[in-house]
Amino acid sequence: MDNQVMPREQLGICAEGNLHSIYLMFNANDGVEDQLRPSIASVAQYIYELTDQYADSAFNGFVAIGANFWDTYYPEARPALLKPFPSMNEGNRDAPAIEYDLFVHIRCDRFDILHLVANEINQMFEDLVELVEEERGFRFMDNRDLTGFVDGTENPKGRHRQQVALVAEEDPEFKSGSYIHVQKYAHNLSKWHRLPVKKQEDIIGRTKQDDIEYESEDKPLTSHIKRVNLKDANGASMEILRQSMPYGSVKEQGLMFISSCKTPDNFEQMLRSMIYGDGHGNHDHLMQFTKALTGSSFFAPSLDFLMQWDE
Ligand code: HEM
Repeated sequence: MDNQVMPREQLGICAEGNLHSIYLMFNANDGVEDQLRPSIASVAQYIYELTDQYADSAFNGFVAIGANFWDTYYPEARPALLKPFPSMNEGNRDAPAIEYDLFVHIRCDRFDILHLVANEINQMFEDLVELVEEERGFRFMDNRDLTGFVDGTENPKGRHRQQVALVAEEDPEFKSGSYIHVQKYAHNLSKWHRLPVKKQEDIIGRTKQDDIEYESEDKPLTSHIKRVNLKDANGASMEILRQSMPYGSVKEQGLMFISSCKTPDNFEQMLRSMIYGDGHGNHDHLMQFTKALTGSSFFAPSLDFLMQWDE
């Protein structure tokens, strides 16, 4: 790949929010690496082209490769920081690792288009993979999580999204790629809705109706915002770009939490702070109302990286 020009990022990594999403998790059949690489390239290219074709409906998406399976597909080189999902457990707070080989994330403001494209992508992979998980996300009210709180307010904005989410010069071969973490959270909404609104707000660290951040001195150490708002050794904010959306049915529902970042460390530190707390017993009380069912680590390379294997 020519490193002189900026490789093209997969456009779903930094895209703005949509009304609908489909998440497809695949595992590869044995011994198909040579056929699968061109297939992955075609799917990534197809998604890239549809972004133009369905621009009116804000179509976008990306393909990401599982951390545990990277070396099987692309043994020539590995993103410098790629590692398996950092599973954690403390008390009744659990962040299990469930890894998949491939993650296809597509989003659009028209659900019919998404459904069509998801089927097409499944076809394009033919007999090379098995579809092991499928979930459909949706926008709930004005960008709220199913807890009723607005989600995504403090996400990076404008071009800062790229600066947070995409690998830059620090790993030239993987420039414009992104470290992706996915956790499927199932909420206990009946337990949550039994809480008075003020207690819910104390758990998030923001007001519910108007989405106003608590003053610093009013934020409980156990609030979600307090636990994930971290600074690095130089005092700079550690950021991730969240692309989460509510998912599910009456039976099981919650948040498909999706983080993309130029380093996997920020997500890991935040999750650590939520589950293990600050060393003084202050862990994230939101975790009493939701349960992570999965936890997967991927890398979404640039389109140009994947296209090296296009046929
Ligand atoms: C902020 C919900 C999991 C990282 C927020 C906010 C809500 C929320 C309502 C406030 C609005 C906003 O700024 O977006 C949830 C729910 C989760 C969840 C319902 C799971 C069930 C996570 C996880 C992480 C995370 C696993 C990272 C490991 C963040 C960050 C912010 C945030 C970085 C912005 C903090 C700030 O700068 O104020 N989340 N979240 N969240 N969340 Fe989560």
